[in-house]
Amino acid sequence: MFKKIAAAFFILCTLQTVATGQRTFIDPGAVWPDSAGLHIQAHGGGIIKVGRVYYWYGEQRAQGLDTNYRYVSGYRSTDLMNWTFIGNVLQLTDPEDLGARWILERPKVFFNKKTHAYVMYFHLDDRRYQYARVGIATSPTPEGPFRYLKSFRPLGFESRDIGQFIDDDGTPYLIFESRPSKGFYIAGLSANYTEVNRQIAFIHAPLEGGAIVHYKKLYYVVGSALTGWRPNPNKYATARSLSGPWSEFKDIAPPETNTYGSQSTMLFKVAGTKTTSVLFMGDQWRPKTQWDSRYLWMPVTIGGGKLTLPPPHPFTIDVRTGKTWQVDPSTRFPQTPQN
Ligand code: DGJ
Repeated sequence: MFKKIAAAFFILCTLQTVATGQRTFIDPGAVWPDSAGLHIQAHGGGIIKVGRVYYWYGEQRAQGLDTNYRYVSGYRSTDLMNWTFIGNVLQLTDPEDLGARWILERPKVFFNKKTHAYVMYFHLDDRRYQYARVGIATSPTPEGPFRYLKSFRPLGFESRDIGQFIDDDGTPYLIFESRPSKGFYIAGLSANYTEVNRQIAFIHAPLEGGAIVHYKKLYYVVGSALTGWRPNPNKYATARSLSGPWSEFKDIAPPETNTYGSQSTMLFKVAGTKTTSVLFMGDQWRPKTQWDSRYLWMPVTIGGGKLTLPPPHPFTIDVRTGKTWQVDPSTRFPQTPQN
């Protein structure tokens, strides 16, 4: 009985949001308009939650921007489905004399509760991807503007794709891919978050797009093969401790789907009052029309050392309870509870 009342209430809320023009579901791979109706520009991005608010930062690749700059966009949401553009929180000219077509990719922002600073890490490179460093910019507010601080090679290693992981106790980690060592590192940050000061693990697997989630006492890491903008079968491994030992890597989806045309950027945990969902956040890159690159977000099936990305379909999420539902896009109503 209670379940029926809860379901009816949820459908009523859904009807209400339909009536107010709010988005009621996430449609993986589709154009995803923000509250102003423009396709979200937050590619290779990451999400943090501060209080009740989610912030999504990513690569701003809209058309018509001044090509002397690289931009990181910021969006705000309280439900993960409706996003409001808060601006280009970082607007940067070539900070290290890298030359034409220099690169800023995969920005990730950490909030430092002690210093109240927002600390952004990004992949900083020249057009041949030889500089291979992280850049750092900081801001006293989530809206920016972020100010460039410095760049370096974390722990002295080449660093290209980066990922961010915040453990349940709030400890922040940087994940970075290092090609000469043919693997990727999980590294700890200094107290003020502006230094990478210790190696937690080196995972000997040539993977990028690194993402980690801590779920029911097990760490799951996901990464993609090194195939440029082309999708490939992303893989996962597990460990009881971040420092390892890490298991062998396995496919997260049938390999012939090439991760449904996407590449990992983050695993995001939504721990609600009823259940905990984990969202796979991937990019479906369109290298020639980057502004039209899409997002493949999907709740994964996870537990007992297994992680599977199901075939993408529209879904709704209730961030309060943590529940997700498959949605029939023609009726726009939640259909099948997923968890
Ligand atoms: C794959 C990376 O994951 C992307 O961030 C980007 O660097 C492309 N390679 C460039 O080919």
